[in-house]
Amino acid sequence: MNLLFLLLFGLISNGATYKPVVLIHGILSGPEKMIVLFEEIEKAHPDTKIYNFDKYDGWSSLENTWRQVLEFRSFLEVIGRKHPDGINVVGYSQGGLIARAAIQTLPFHKINIFISISSPQAGQFGANFLHLVFPDLAANTAYELFYSKIGQHISIANYWNDPLEQDLYYKFSKFLPIINNEIRTQNSSQYKNTLLRLNKMILIGGPNDGVITPWESSHFGYFNTTLNVIPLHKRPIYIEDAIGLKSLENNGKLVIIIKPFVHHLTWHTNRRVIQEVIIPYLD
Ligand SMILES: *[C@@H]1O[C@H](CO)[C@@H](O)[C@H](O)[C@H]1NC(C)=O
Ligand SMILES: *[C@@H]1O[C@H](CO)[C@@H](O)[C@H](O)[C@H]1NC(C)=O
Repeated sequence: MNLLFLLLFGLISNGATYKPVVLIHGILSGPEKMIVLFEEIEKAHPDTKIYNFDKYDGWSSLENTWRQVLEFRSFLEVIGRKHPDGINVVGYSQGGLIARAAIQTLPFHKINIFISISSPQAGQFGANFLHLVFPDLAANTAYELFYSKIGQHISIANYWNDPLEQDLYYKFSKFLPIINNEIRTQNSSQYKNTLLRLNKMILIGGPNDGVITPWESSHFGYFNTTLNVIPLHKRPIYIEDAIGLKSLENNGKLVIIIKPFVHHLTWHTNRRVIQEVIIPYLD
């Protein structure tokens, strides 16, 4: 009788438990900007354990992307050890790119769901984003600064993807072409296999974002060399299954969400948007 009770109780309480969630903020921002999202998750899934990454906020969010990735990776490792049944990870803007790369550096991770909220997953090339940080720098000449040894100390430079300067991008960028397996390294197969361990990858973005350029970069779409946007499904990263996106999709594990009328700065602060496009995917 007691055993049966314990068994039933175990089943019921397990069924009601949501996996812990780790949040990571965007550029020139910090954990305080993730509070609305934090509250909405708590409200929808009471008792969920939520961790809000608080390093590299404000100006330090401009530091080299790899440094931030490795710090976030350590954060995930510590939390992962506390929750052997798995965790979910939600990253906003630059944070979604950092989170994705951190996952790719963890060969044995147990990350269940990864949600990328309007993150420049295929790179960034546009004045709106640039001017958040460098008001006077023109997008078409930013490569002169970014594609240099010095420039690569800045996070934005690490994922600045100038469609007209691809040779320099491949030559100088120490981050994006590597984690996107556009340049093969000894880690390329790991960068794919780690993403294949996810139960779900949710990529959220939309045409009225106004900051991520092109906005399709949130879904791994990007400009070609004549500045036409090539959608995810027609890009080599997908067709060649370079980081596992195609396999994930074929297994029903890739979810692409296109939501109009949401500005970049409100994805993570508008309660209605959070309830519509983020909460339903957390379990
Ligand atoms: C790349 O692979 C090497 C060898 O397995 C490993 O020591 C290193 O930490 C990896 N680097 C990253 C960033 O994943
Ligand atoms: C870029 O894409 C557009 C639209 O698909 C295509 O017409 C154009 O030829 C492409 N440019 C190059 C250089 O491939």
